Amino acid sequence: MCGIVGYVGEETGAKDIILGGLKSLEYRGYDSAGIAMICDKKIVTKKKVGVISNLEKIIGDPEFDSNIGIGHTRWATHGVPSDLNAHPHCNMDNTVAVVHNGIIENYMEIKEELLRDHDITFKSETDSEVIAHLIGVYYDECGDLHDAVTKATKRMRGTYAIVVMSSKEPDKIIGVRKDAPLVAGIGKGCNFLASDIPAFLKYSGQVYFIENNEIVVVTKDEIKIYDEDKKEIHRDVFHVTWDVDAAEKAGYEHFMLKEIHEQPIGIEETLTRRLTDSGEINLDGISMTKEDIEKFDKIYIVACGTAYHAGLVGKYAIEKMAKITVETDVASEFRYRDPLIDEKTLFIAISQSGETQDTLQALRLAKSKGARVLSVVNVIGSSVARESDDVFYTWAGPEIAVASTKAYTTQLVCMYLIALYMARTKGTIDNAYYDRMITELKNIPEKLEMIFSQEKDIEKIAEEFHRNNEIFFIGRGVDSTVSLEGSLKLKEISYINSFAIAAGELKHGTIALVENGTLFFALATQDSLTEKMGSNIEEIKARGAYVISIAKEGNELISNLSDRCIFIPKCADEVSPLLTVVPLQIFAYYVAKFRGCNIDKPKNLAKSVTVE
Ligand code: G6P
Repeated sequence: MCGIVGYVGEETGAKDIILGGLKSLEYRGYDSAGIAMICDKKIVTKKKVGVISNLEKIIGDPEFDSNIGIGHTRWATHGVPSDLNAHPHCNMDNTVAVVHNGIIENYMEIKEELLRDHDITFKSETDSEVIAHLIGVYYDECGDLHDAVTKATKRMRGTYAIVVMSSKEPDKIIGVRKDAPLVAGIGKGCNFLASDIPAFLKYSGQVYFIENNEIVVVTKDEIKIYDEDKKEIHRDVFHVTWDVDAAEKAGYEHFMLKEIHEQPIGIEETLTRRLTDSGEINLDGISMTKEDIEKFDKIYIVACGTAYHAGLVGKYAIEKMAKITVETDVASEFRYRDPLIDEKTLFIAISQSGETQDTLQALRLAKSKGARVLSVVNVIGSSVARESDDVFYTWAGPEIAVASTKAYTTQLVCMYLIALYMARTKGTIDNAYYDRMITELKNIPEKLEMIFSQEKDIEKIAEEFHRNNEIFFIGRGVDSTVSLEGSLKLKEISYINSFAIAAGELKHGTIALVENGTLFFALATQDSLTEKMGSNIEEIKARGAYVISIAKEGNELISNLSDRCIFIPKCADEVSPLLTVVPLQIFAYYVAKFRGCNIDKPKNLAKSVTVE
């Protein structure tokens, strides 16, 4: 949510570099965009509601350029999306410009003070504008931008990453973060600040991760990081291993389709990083011992959105294999329900971005009560990763489309590996079962290619049903969790009202909605539950439902009962979610395409939800 790009270099060109950076951050979700540059010693700001191309239309003048500037994509929290509420925001005499990602919780208190004591006139309805005025007031008192920013951040409560520049010190941009992402990129003759690495990856793969409450001062020649008392901090440079292509579409029409097709490689990479040649799970970099694992009497898996659905599969896997009680919860609920946590609790946070505010806060709560924290994260160096005791990285590569696909399947792989490792350590599974599961996991990439060979057929089904206003998803056992993910994918990108429910629960209410032609996806991949699912399909068919089922190859019982059947290759029941979800992702993708939706950036959604 909200994207920040700051640039300072030797020569003009800031405009295109910042615009390019903002475009790379579009995945974060936004509703307006803006840019400010220092031109002829004056700050010039342009902002426009809507997509970045709207902004581009008003900044075409080649004269409007500089060697220094800040840009922003806004996702509205305080105040409607509008030109005025878009960032950057400036102080009264236009000498300070600020971009902000996050929420300033005490902005009303600061605003009242600025109105009362400094006669400030506000132009926008945002919380962010107070930052510009506050820094402006402090600058007038102390005459130093670094000091003014430090003083202002001491007054601000909430979450923020901000980047500031002043026409009085036109050689630098200054950033500070608290619970919102901010990274600095080291370029050649130029340097960057941004919400995420893709914003400057074209120019720099050398990165400093900025920590909470640190202030980073960036000139064209150097990047210096300071603590709140202006003491300089040494930080190691992080070298990015993925390239620009990984963050671009590589010939696919949408990032989502590209990312669906990247699942075999992401899964293989995630497995390779954790499996030795002999098939043992290596926990390199993870400090959890056998004693720790034996001590845990309860596991919480906490996450949001798609990551939460991965956590539901994690519960199945860990309980089945390692025989430990697992509760999976959405982070926004977990935080406020006084969960029972102590030193015997293992808390697993799952997050693609590692920046989801609710997940981060739930993690902090668990840690403060003594839980051991293990996280499953895709973005290296993100807040969740840094604040965890141990990190189990997913190696999905950058995920750009808002609707998560490859992050989900790689998260599942991590959950299986964690479950198998714990089970082996506790002796709750034998070697034959372990070896069989590892082989099953290793075979998934190849089996996914077999599913991709049916893509055209799934596209045809999507074409046929894309006008439906309502679609239900049902399943039993671990299929019921995949049905939640299939339903979420569809509603996120196609805006169809979709609903997932455990098949056995249908008759306790939802079946009342079934009438002639009601469309159902019935997930029936669990061998041990085939007959039960068969009965559920019969129940809804008897009331007129149209049923598309997903079943393992050769499952004639299910295919005969259904109107249509999409087959997945045979596999162990435990790992079936890795396959079952993929036809549902492809279906959602093509339905959204036939409906003309904005697939990679659905309305109202953000990739990285850094506010509560
Ligand atoms: C947002 C995204 C979802 C994602 C969820 C959790 O809602 O739109 O796709 O699943 O956040 O994100 P995380 O980065 O924590 O996995």
